[in-house]
Amino acid sequence: MQIGVPAETAPGEKRVATVPAVVEKLVKLGFSVAVQSGAGDAANFPDDAYRAAGAQIVPDAAALWSGSDIVFKVRPPTVEEVGLLREGGMLVGFVWPAQNPELMQQLAARRATVLAIDALPRQLSRAQKMDALTSMAGISGYRAVIEAANAFGRFFNGQVTAAGKVPPAKVFIAGAGVAGLAAIGTAANLGAIVRANDTRAEVADQVKSLGGEFVKVDYEEEGSGGGGYAKVMSEGFQQAQRAMYAQQAREADIIITTALIPGKPAPKLITADMVQTMQPGSVIVDMAAEQGGNCELTVPGEAVVRHGVTIVGYTDLASRLAKQSSTLYSTNLQRLAEELCKAKDGVAVVNMDDEAIRGLTVIKDGAVTWPAPPPKAPAVAPQKPAAAMPPAPKGHGPGEPMSAQSLAITFGVGALLFLLVGLYAPASFLAHFTVFVLACFVGYMVIWNVTPSLHTPLMSVTNAISSIIAIGALVQVAPPVGGAGASRPAQLILGLAVFGLALTAVNMFGGFAVTRRMLAMFRK
Ligand code: NAI
Repeated sequence: MQIGVPAETAPGEKRVATVPAVVEKLVKLGFSVAVQSGAGDAANFPDDAYRAAGAQIVPDAAALWSGSDIVFKVRPPTVEEVGLLREGGMLVGFVWPAQNPELMQQLAARRATVLAIDALPRQLSRAQKMDALTSMAGISGYRAVIEAANAFGRFFNGQVTAAGKVPPAKVFIAGAGVAGLAAIGTAANLGAIVRANDTRAEVADQVKSLGGEFVKVDYEEEGSGGGGYAKVMSEGFQQAQRAMYAQQAREADIIITTALIPGKPAPKLITADMVQTMQPGSVIVDMAAEQGGNCELTVPGEAVVRHGVTIVGYTDLASRLAKQSSTLYSTNLQRLAEELCKAKDGVAVVNMDDEAIRGLTVIKDGAVTWPAPPPKAPAVAPQKPAAAMPPAPKGHGPGEPMSAQSLAITFGVGALLFLLVGLYAPASFLAHFTVFVLACFVGYMVIWNVTPSLHTPLMSVTNAISSIIAIGALVQVAPPVGGAGASRPAQLILGLAVFGLALTAVNMFGGFAVTRRMLAMFRK
């Protein structure tokens, strides 16, 4: 099958759906690739690079669309482009079916199969490699900070110079999803003081881990609407949130807004009054401009100055880093192509039994299949309160308490064995054996009752084992109470205790060393 890559026609769009490095991978999958001449120019991928990667360069859009079985695009196609799509052909790209019902009808009329990359069920861990929304949002979040820095007349970081003291810029981020988190990391790295808010309380730790401070709304309400997305909040919450945002607007030099709710207009978080209270020279970057904007004064696609505040409403932030965004986007499409062509024979098969593929297939052979049913198995099941847990099944698996019957049998067998040992073994052995059994029991209880506060319960358990070995060994290393010279067996015990301590030390200090190295990977 031939994959065609046309030049994007939306005004100012610089991205291209496939880059030369991905052409090579698609050719290895058995596809032939045709690229419209000049399609990659704005993203710094010249025709020659595509030719060298094995693509055929086609001079015009009409020839490219009509000659291709599959078309890879970035932006949704225009009416003219739909007219060029081959009858029964396949289209892959951003489609936004909820926002573009007419486009959906036009594509269905051409009996097309349409894979909308924006409809991918992102919560499936398998789907993450194809998640173009995340790739683009990360780039946009970074670029939003760069645009803010460009419009802002000061440094981000604080400085003390002979010419005077410069305070660090205060940045407030509204909405800490993928784009918001990228903006937090970028602004914090530039040295700004970063604060952020989101209706989903679970992002607070992520904000902190990127160097930001999470600012809570003084109102208790869960903001998660399922699938990692937000929901529309109650009037009471919105009122409390407005009061908090008004306070932040008075203090912040830069506000970056990213708040979105799927299928709904962007929530209006920054009112005209709040803009008025900001210092002249402050900047607002409204990343939700395309969905109506989070700020009342945003003009989509433009940067305007209102009450001395620059309000940036660009809707092409990802396209402003065209080389990077094209590379990531085309890698997402390449991963999708691998899923569609598992046999590597250059034939794309749309398997509607595959949850990820089903999710993004919005039209199949002319029949509208959007919206897809929600995926059956989310990657991480939402945590339920303990009271809502189903009753425990009979019997026991690992970690579950034993039933009364199995406990009685275990104890019965143990007592019988103990009786036999008591009847036949010498008295001194029995004393040691009792201590040994008690030590096993106490050790077991101590170790398994440690509450794992580390990332993996296994690490917590091995740390607990190391600690109990260290305590046991230290007790043995201590000199005997009478102070008499050590006998031979006592020397052996001492030797074993020291050996045990040495091994534990390797485990403990090795653990610290490994943790330090892992943390260093995340530090600059
Ligand atoms: P988005 O672009 O739809 O929304 C951006 C942010 O705005 C969200 O964090 C949302 O909670 C927030 N928001 C909405 N209304 C708000 C309001 N009134 N005030 C303040 N904040 C508000 O979301 P995005 O960035 O595309 O993804 C959101 C989340 O989805 C991610 O943070 C992640 O947790 C989850 N996700 C999970 C994936 C996975 O499981 N593999 C993949 C991608 C995203």
